Amino acid sequence: MSKTLISTRGLRKTYGKRDGKFEALRGITIDIQKGETVAIIGKSGSGKSTLMHLLALLDKPTRGEITLNNKPTAKLKARRLNNIRNKEFGFVFQSFFMNSNDTVLNNVILPLKIAGVGYRERRRRAISALKVVDLDDKRNNKANDLSGGQKQRVCIARAIVNDPKVIFADEPTGNLDSATGEKIMNLLFRLNKEKGITLIIVTHDQDLANKCSRQIRIKDGRVTEDSSADFEPDDDGDEEIREIVGDDDSDDWDDEDATPENFEGDNNIDGMLDHKHVTRHINIDEGEDE
Ligand SMILES: Nc1ncnc2c1ncn2[C@@H]1O[C@H](COP(=O)(O)OP(=O)(O)OP(=O)(O)O)[C@@H](O)[C@H]1O
Ligand SMILES: [Mg+2]
Repeated sequence: MSKTLISTRGLRKTYGKRDGKFEALRGITIDIQKGETVAIIGKSGSGKSTLMHLLALLDKPTRGEITLNNKPTAKLKARRLNNIRNKEFGFVFQSFFMNSNDTVLNNVILPLKIAGVGYRERRRRAISALKVVDLDDKRNNKANDLSGGQKQRVCIARAIVNDPKVIFADEPTGNLDSATGEKIMNLLFRLNKEKGITLIIVTHDQDLANKCSRQIRIKDGRVTEDSSADFEPDDDGDEEIREIVGDDDSDDWDDEDATPENFEGDNNIDGMLDHKHVTRHINIDEGEDE
């Protein structure tokens, strides 16, 4: 039987204030099961990356709830969140690439170093992650000297080095030629098959989306299609969330005002992603017992 890994209820994200206010997500309710491969698709500006960042606990929703392994995440302390991200999640985001002047090996080692893994063990694990992506021979090269596809593979090696339960990938094949893109794709699906890693992938690539067991389409911050069997379109998650959090303050959401087409705000959320967010290590025991 499938087990729920991440659930959201009535997820909303508003950027900015007053005139500059923009509702990037407007009530997203989804359940992601362990071992699923989920493609998040939709037009530019529809809210895909915003949703991904919330699912990955890199950012907080304005409204709504996210549970991980059926446990609410809203009140988790920063230390716990960092630990979950460090231990349970792997990230393949083009925006947080690595220390370009450091070696490939050191870049892959970084999360383990932060996690306090000893020198020999972290070296061993990083080399084995590099073998998975077939880049062991480049381990002493400067990261900067690699091709785009190779850099992307190093990102994958770094994402898997901590043995995560989930990999979040934002456009993992963007900017790659189709052959290299396919290699990356195959690699991600192999990790899903062999290690049961749940994949959550934002992509414009229809081939990649089709390979996923489930496609979730986002339009103007709402789910308009979800290939999971029990999907019913629901363009306002407020009711459900009110039940959960006892929220009766329903007036401050005015969907009519938002005009995504006209909005020209800075999309700088990607800029927020850096090593600090992802790889700081703190000790906790969170998550499902295996
Ligand atoms: N930090 C921010 N401040 C203000 N608006 C933002 C911010 N981040 C994102 N937005 C806006 O929220 C909307 C959704 O952005 P998001 O990055 O989630 O889109 P996306 O679907 O990932 O698009 P793309 O396919 O182009 O990457 C966009 O209109 C964007 O301009
Ligand atoms: Mg995006």
